[in-house]
Amino acid sequence: MLAVAVRAGDEGRLDDAEAAFRAVLVMSPGHDDALFGLGLNLMIARRFSEAVEPLARAAGAADAEPVRRQCLAHALFLTGAFSRAAETFAAADTVEPLPDGARLTWARAAAYAALERAPAEAALELYARIAGPLAEPLETVANEGFGVLVAFQRLDAARALGAWLEARDPTNVVRAHELRVLVDPDIDRAPPAYVEALFDDFAERFDRQLVDMLGYDAPKLLSDLVARQGRRFERILDLGCGTGLAAPHLRSFGGRLTGVDLSAAMLAKAAERGDHDTLVHTEAVAFMEDHPGGFDLIVAADVLIYFGDLAPVFAAAAGALPTGGLLAISTELGERGWRLLSSARYAHGDNYVRKTSAPWFQVVEREEIPLRREATGVTTGCLYVLKRL
Ligand SMILES: C[S@@+](CC[C@H](N)C(=O)[O-])C[C@H]1O[C@@H](n2cnc3c(N)ncnc32)[C@H](O)[C@@H]1O
Repeated sequence: MLAVAVRAGDEGRLDDAEAAFRAVLVMSPGHDDALFGLGLNLMIARRFSEAVEPLARAAGAADAEPVRRQCLAHALFLTGAFSRAAETFAAADTVEPLPDGARLTWARAAAYAALERAPAEAALELYARIAGPLAEPLETVANEGFGVLVAFQRLDAARALGAWLEARDPTNVVRAHELRVLVDPDIDRAPPAYVEALFDDFAERFDRQLVDMLGYDAPKLLSDLVARQGRRFERILDLGCGTGLAAPHLRSFGGRLTGVDLSAAMLAKAAERGDHDTLVHTEAVAFMEDHPGGFDLIVAADVLIYFGDLAPVFAAAAGALPTGGLLAISTELGERGWRLLSSARYAHGDNYVRKTSAPWFQVVEREEIPLRREATGVTTGCLYVLKRL
């Protein structure tokens, strides 16, 4: 059964491998090869928190191979248990010096854990000490660390690292906004300068990161929902079009496709893709206000996450659509009202979307979807198709 499990794992049949490893463990509950195999299998499936327990048991024996401790330490790091990860890496290093990648992760884990009790300067010194000659520039480590700590909701540690970064580069508008978000939950929309700088920097990696790593599929799912109306649209607006992921789907509705975005670098990617008839570098709400009755279908995939208060967006979209026109949007699903998240994005409650859009729109379709993977799980999104009254 163990051989069956290993073969299934080698062939990428993760579900079969998991079932077979678990079958071995039913027959022989402490079987350490099966525990280790199961743990690795769960890591490959990105189910890091579930991987910790079998890996901890597989690494528990005093004579366990060092690689088992390293895998456990990686799993702990990927679940945000930085202090335990650092201790486990340190223990593995005393048995056999860690390979370079593991040493760098150890150094990060130790620094992130240290931020809970020590100033940023001291935590980064600890990183440099452990990483030794492998050490990367401290700004790179701090930048990445800020994002990781926010994702795991270690907000005090994130603030400390953010302040260290801001002191080094006070002109960075992205960092300044991300730090402000951690202290002021009332900011009601992302400043355009922040959105522009964020996506200009992100454009090159956007498709790979969102689609391949985070499982983002909202543009297609939103288009599928619009398709249920069985209509064609002459004038389509792809609001916050980004790199143009929605465009191939929107083309199937037949009309002229205009893309609008604040980020020139994202628009350049959309231009390479070549699916829009027109691309405009401007702000979305202002553009809709300037085109009264100008579109039959407006689509905003993963764009309203940069607006807290949606009333100005709905009002502008209502002005840009004739009666019967459609507005298709995705949101990050929140509990009620709008809420600024530590990620600097916004979540919106279902009731809030319905209530705020009600003066102009009727909800004709609604669907909850897995929006994207995050450090701590999958974020739920909500798709709406709204019809102009
Ligand atoms: C997460 S990306 C989504 C891109 C694309 N809609 C997709 O689904 O792949 C958000 C995009 O919206 C753009 N954006 C956000 N707020 C905007 C605004 N107020 N005006 C114009 N574009 C905006 C950003 O520049 C970015 O390209």
